[in-house]
Amino acid sequence: MAFLVNGNEILKDARRNQYAVGAYNTNNLEWTRALVSGAKETRTPLLIQVSTGAAKYMGGYKLVRDLVLNVMDSMDIDVPVILNLDHGDFESAKECIELGYSSVMFDGHKLPVEENLAKTKEIVRLAHERGIAVEAEIGKIGENQGGGELASVEDAIRFAEAGVDRLACGIGNIHGVYPEGWEGLNFDRLKEISDAVDVPLVLHGGSGIPQDQVKKAISLGIAKININTEFQLAFQKATREYIEAGHDQDRSNKGFDPRKLLRPGTDAITESMKEMISWMGTRPIDDRDSKFVFDEASLNEE
Ligand code: G3H
Ligand code: ZN
Repeated sequence: MAFLVNGNEILKDARRNQYAVGAYNTNNLEWTRALVSGAKETRTPLLIQVSTGAAKYMGGYKLVRDLVLNVMDSMDIDVPVILNLDHGDFESAKECIELGYSSVMFDGHKLPVEENLAKTKEIVRLAHERGIAVEAEIGKIGENQGGGELASVEDAIRFAEAGVDRLACGIGNIHGVYPEGWEGLNFDRLKEISDAVDVPLVLHGGSGIPQDQVKKAISLGIAKININTEFQLAFQKATREYIEAGHDQDRSNKGFDPRKLLRPGTDAITESMKEMISWMGTRPIDDRDSKFVFDEASLNEE
């Protein structure tokens, strides 16, 4: 049976050596297979994650866990895999810890900061008992075109001291499509945070940020980059091309069969992932001492 790792050594290595590991959201079976293909082909660790909304859409956290483990098995994956809950609330983080996710994000940014910190500590306690990693969020990541809030250095220090394994910081980044006239990432604040804490930092809203800004952010401590919208757009574009070319209407070849209709979009996710891995510099497993990676807490091992 496939097993998961918590990714702590992988992300520490990324921060130390100034490269990033993409954290790719899954949305369904095709997405999951596309991401596993990308990791297999590039021989890089796979950080696959699910948002609360996508988990609900797919049928729950247990289904997602079972899906990921079964796809890993059926596709015979031989690189480390981290399964992360993305933007979880307190209850969903506890549920995913119980289910054996190897990493959970507790996103308490909507709470007063003291409550966010107290609940983060509780999640750290529950997760660390089982070798599971924890990500917290400070400041606020903007939503669909704006509204973010910069993370403070004091909060970064307090949350790092609380024992989180990775820290997502609001630094001008936004989920979804970036608006015209977006000001860009706040590198001054990122540098202050990165000078103050050595925990691997996480860049949410990674889709659509110009590559030069992402590379600079990586040089300033970003080790995990969350990507969802970019692959959704890649999927949409390829699917649109298939339909606009009329292939879905080819009745003799059953071009409307979902196994054909969803294929170009699925392949486009893998291609887009491989490009990102290449320019983010994600380190292949064969370049490491693989023992060090597989020595991490291995969850779900039989
Ligand atoms: O947590 C997930 C991400 O931050 C994804 O953001 O959809 O803008 O790539 P994105
Ligand atoms: Zn996010």
